[in-house]
Amino acid sequence: MIGHVDHGKTTLTQALSGKWTDTFSEELKRGITIKLGYANACFFRDENGFNAEGKGKLVRCVSFVDAPGHEALMAVMLAASSIMDGALLVIAANEGIRAQTREHAMAAKIAGIKNVVVVQNKIDSVSREDALKNHEEIEKFLKEYGIDAPVIPVSALHRVNIDLLIEAIEKKIPTPERDPKADPKFLVVRSFDVNKPGTDLQKLVGGVLGGALVRGKLKVGDEIEIRPGIKKGTGWEPVITEITNLATEGVGFFKEATPGGSLAIGTKLDPAITKRDAMMGNVAGKPGKMPPVLNSVTLDVELFERVVGFEEKELKVDPIRVGEPLMINVNTAVTLGIVKSKGDTVELSLKKPVCADREDRFVISRRIDGKWRLIGYGIPA
Ligand code: GTP
Ligand code: MG
Repeated sequence: MIGHVDHGKTTLTQALSGKWTDTFSEELKRGITIKLGYANACFFRDENGFNAEGKGKLVRCVSFVDAPGHEALMAVMLAASSIMDGALLVIAANEGIRAQTREHAMAAKIAGIKNVVVVQNKIDSVSREDALKNHEEIEKFLKEYGIDAPVIPVSALHRVNIDLLIEAIEKKIPTPERDPKADPKFLVVRSFDVNKPGTDLQKLVGGVLGGALVRGKLKVGDEIEIRPGIKKGTGWEPVITEITNLATEGVGFFKEATPGGSLAIGTKLDPAITKRDAMMGNVAGKPGKMPPVLNSVTLDVELFERVVGFEEKELKVDPIRVGEPLMINVNTAVTLGIVKSKGDTVELSLKKPVCADREDRFVISRRIDGKWRLIGYGIPA
């Protein structure tokens, strides 16, 4: 679920999954999503079409990742985009294309998300005429951004056309082909200590990692390495541990995990080091079969012509300057990169190392008027 703030992503997640994913006190107070939300849903089909309410035959189960739309939370959205197989771009009919509609659409493109369904939401809040006008505006925007996606008018709040939306998801976002023989790569988006305060020492369970397995297979009992790991002195050290259980919300525990959907990995790690998402941005896999940890990186950079995240302004993207700090998102990691040199390629020294494959995209944001704005991306040269 991606799109501009308040356009109805969390409401739509609930309409599809039955789960309200904004649960943190700060989110409830401010009425916006701050952390990533996760919700599993299953689609069914009977003589009346598709539904998510268990009527008829089971078609497919999917995990939704509900991203925040607020402009200050782009780093969170970018982390989410690295674990999505497809995206629902939510656009409120009464507001139309806004700054983060464009910025999220760009981010999805950079992340290589080709399968997109556009949700024209809040259709209940506009006249038929304005809905049609807005629909045209959306089609124009999609053409301009080179996105091939159906546009489905819905009301997430009143649960109108959810059946047609599911049908569009089934058509446009098929389950991708996976290679179960590949070396496993698990991207950590969350981590927690699941023990209640005051738990008996004997009953304490190890730290839990939440995220997505993007390739390969993991089994209970497997040894895994987590990179770049934890901070030790002035550097970072990989951690090796064992998988004690595998689970996903609403389904329960299983012995073996393959890619697709969100996954929680129970480990033998000291829960103190996984507390409060401390392991976010790490990659887990088989020891000795992991992508390298990079303290610096040289990138072939592609910059946008314009900064897309502004509401009113049309701002050109200036060339990258030696010495400037850039925000770098790769997989679910976020770090600061200082530009060391630039020519045909850009050399960055990374404040916190990242674990990344050669084919991973490095998303680049620059601080403009006090906010990080997406300006382009790079791939290791
Ligand atoms: P962020 O996560 O903060 O970016 O917002 P969001 O996109 O998740 O929006 P959210 O679901 O929190 O909804 C924002 C507001 O829009 C809430 O007051 C919802 O009740 C309202 N809303 C969502 N969907 C609809 C809809 O279909 N019709 C109407 N009228 N209001 C809606
Ligand atoms: Mg939300």
